[in-house]
Amino acid sequence: MKITDLHQRTFDYIRIALNEKCNFRCMYCMPTEGIQFKPEDQLLSDDEIFRVVSVLAKHGVTKVRLTGGEPLIRKGISQLVNVISHTDGIKSVHLTTNGLYLDTFLQPLIDAGLDGLNISLDTLRENRFFEITRRNDFPRVWKNVLSAIELPEIHVKINVVLMRGINADEILDFVNLASEYPVSVRFIELMPFDDHQIWRTGRFMGVDMIIETLNKVIPTDERQVGTPTEQYYFKPDGFAGGVAIIPAFARSFCGACNRIRLTADGQIRNCLYSNQEFNLRDLIRNGCSNEEIFSLVQSAMHQKARDGFEAEHEDNHKRTSMTQIGG
Ligand code: 5AD
Ligand code: SF4
Repeated sequence: MKITDLHQRTFDYIRIALNEKCNFRCMYCMPTEGIQFKPEDQLLSDDEIFRVVSVLAKHGVTKVRLTGGEPLIRKGISQLVNVISHTDGIKSVHLTTNGLYLDTFLQPLIDAGLDGLNISLDTLRENRFFEITRRNDFPRVWKNVLSAIELPEIHVKINVVLMRGINADEILDFVNLASEYPVSVRFIELMPFDDHQIWRTGRFMGVDMIIETLNKVIPTDERQVGTPTEQYYFKPDGFAGGVAIIPAFARSFCGACNRIRLTADGQIRNCLYSNQEFNLRDLIRNGCSNEEIFSLVQSAMHQKARDGFEAEHEDNHKRTSMTQIGG
């Protein structure tokens, strides 16, 4: 039986956060000093993750994305990808990373069966990289991005969270990147998920403004079909790659939502904007059956709101950073 909700949606995609910790401190994600990270024993173990994936794969889940925090700082990441990619029913495994450790892990991950890589990179300028991430790692990340793009086995997507007065003047530089290299550059609207409230400082840049800027260099009336979240996807003639916009705040894609979220500490979330949580970890640790794992997930998704606007009114388990939710 497939996992469905009460709004005619079917869920074949799970995003699993592997940890909350990160080696960066992106200004819209965490304060410099970090946040209160949960102790390791509260996070799902590899075996618990494998069990959840194999149960859900029997119920129509075919795609897995590993996120965080920063997934590459979790021990044994390649082995984790290896087991998940060889799970019956799983067709593709993807990973979202800040790119810093790819020099060590890229080839092992590909050997383990990784299908796709999203790299978060909000600027192409070294000083600005420090202002945004509070780390001096631009040269290493950039080198890793270029090596990843070159590999024929995986498709690379670059996620750019746009912020007015911070990096919005780089839209055209990122478009040039997509022109030159076979990568999808995805401009993401800033979302209100930080407790230190960059959100309140007027940095938000909406999809209309992004399109207005894009219009100067690419024909934006020739919109193509991207993934469900890539509501706008452009692949101009002569471009090696593509350019997309993800209206993460405008939430115009909710009708096509196909994703289940699992936090690093084993809570199912049925929407990025919802604070409802379903405690899969404790259910598992109390010795539940596979059937009960499926039932909890199915029941969580049945309670999914129609869209992210309805969902944000639910207010019981607020988290203070995206690292605790998994992007
Ligand atoms: N708004 C938009 N995107 C965010 N991310 C993290 N926090 C936010 C936010 N407040 C992005 C990261 C990464 C993805 C997992 O989520 O940059 O690309
Ligand atoms: Fe780390 Fe991603 Fe948060 Fe930046 S946005 S601090 S790379 S988890």
